[in-house]
Amino acid sequence: MGESGPLSPTILTIGSLKGGIGKSTLALNLAQGLSRLGKKVLLIDLNPSSRHTLDRSDKGGSPQGMVQLLKGMATPSSILCHVTLDDEYGFHMVSTRVSTPNEALFFEKQAMDHKVPPLVEQLSRGFEVVLLDAPSGLGSVAKAALESSHWAFAVSTCEAETLRALPLYTTLISWIRVHRNRLLNFGGVLIQKFDNHSKIQDTICTSLTKRLGTIFLNTKVPLDQRFEVAALRSIPLWRLPRAEDLVGVFEELAQEILDILFNKEARDALSQQIDHISGHTQWLESQLGAICREYGLECAIVSDGLGFPIVHYNIGEGAELFAAFGPLAGDTMGRAVDMLDLGQVDQMVLGIGDLKVLLVKRLESEKENYYFLALLPKGFEWRQGLSASISRLVDGL
Ligand SMILES: Nc1ncnc2c1ncn2[C@@H]1O[C@H](COP(=O)(O)OP(=O)(O)O)[C@@H](O)[C@H]1O
Ligand SMILES: [Mg+2]
Repeated sequence: MGESGPLSPTILTIGSLKGGIGKSTLALNLAQGLSRLGKKVLLIDLNPSSRHTLDRSDKGGSPQGMVQLLKGMATPSSILCHVTLDDEYGFHMVSTRVSTPNEALFFEKQAMDHKVPPLVEQLSRGFEVVLLDAPSGLGSVAKAALESSHWAFAVSTCEAETLRALPLYTTLISWIRVHRNRLLNFGGVLIQKFDNHSKIQDTICTSLTKRLGTIFLNTKVPLDQRFEVAALRSIPLWRLPRAEDLVGVFEELAQEILDILFNKEARDALSQQIDHISGHTQWLESQLGAICREYGLECAIVSDGLGFPIVHYNIGEGAELFAAFGPLAGDTMGRAVDMLDLGQVDQMVLGIGDLKVLLVKRLESEKENYYFLALLPKGFEWRQGLSASISRLVDGL
């Protein structure tokens, strides 16, 4: 395997902004699930720092990886490692094999110089589905994974802090699509570590599904200690006794993903949903932009009652700028919202340095809470009509 074949590979990034949320676990078990459904699967671990469970447990794995291939010290077939599931099924895997800080820098530099997409393409020949286990964050390797892919799936837990980081990751996906890789599609959000017994996770999930619909895949990976037990024993989940139910979740997830990738109806439904959301978002953005320009607001965000941004204006095309504004807004909002929720006031103005203020305003529409955040120059004068314009915008959500 690995040499050119008649199949044209579909390449998927499994990525996220946050680390430790279960991306690598998901990618590994998804590779297993897809293989059991009869697909020829390659799992590429792009993490310079990781040692996959399989690296430790599978004897005979290649000591060489992408670093050695990039340095001309290895061939593609010599870095592919076969993972046997049982007699009938199995998949292939490749790692970076970074073993020194210098090699880590070397790999990151290669990613920055756009050397990863041709490398992934070369390795993918002969496979049907290729999973890229991307490092967390907005770094060069995370970007390189998206540059190399046809599909991006964002992994998240159903926890507020992780979900809050999602829009930044989807902004990165859009940025890559516009500037680097026109073939990239957004596949959806994969929920990891879903706690079936947590009422708040259920509330968050229901609220977001109501607003964003099919962006979330139906199959959620449950929070389960057996993942940790498997990790402790350095074995993949499918070698753990009495874990068939959990292993089955990934077969279900694999089927759902294949439907998105290869079933035109399912794919069209998803793109319609995404187009609808982005069409509505564009309309909201233009409205918000008009308000900001009319009243002299530098930039603004409208978020839902849980604090998730719905629409924003002028907080930067580039993900980096958004990153700079995001934590500021999130952190300030956390505190301001506590005070607003006491109910005595419905808006607050917080000073930022000597020149700017952040306005946080709470609004209600159809019994739902929304928050409006805007950055203004100090000395800004509240003009009549601004409150009404913001209310109208929120009513349009
Ligand atoms: N569904 C789950 N339930 C409980 N623990 C999990 C689950 N998925 C992953 N883990 C554990 O969480 C930790 C981080 O997982 P990992 O896949 O390495 O995350 P990432 O690749 O996002 O950094 C590991 O210890 C792993 O065993
Ligand atoms: Mg990982």
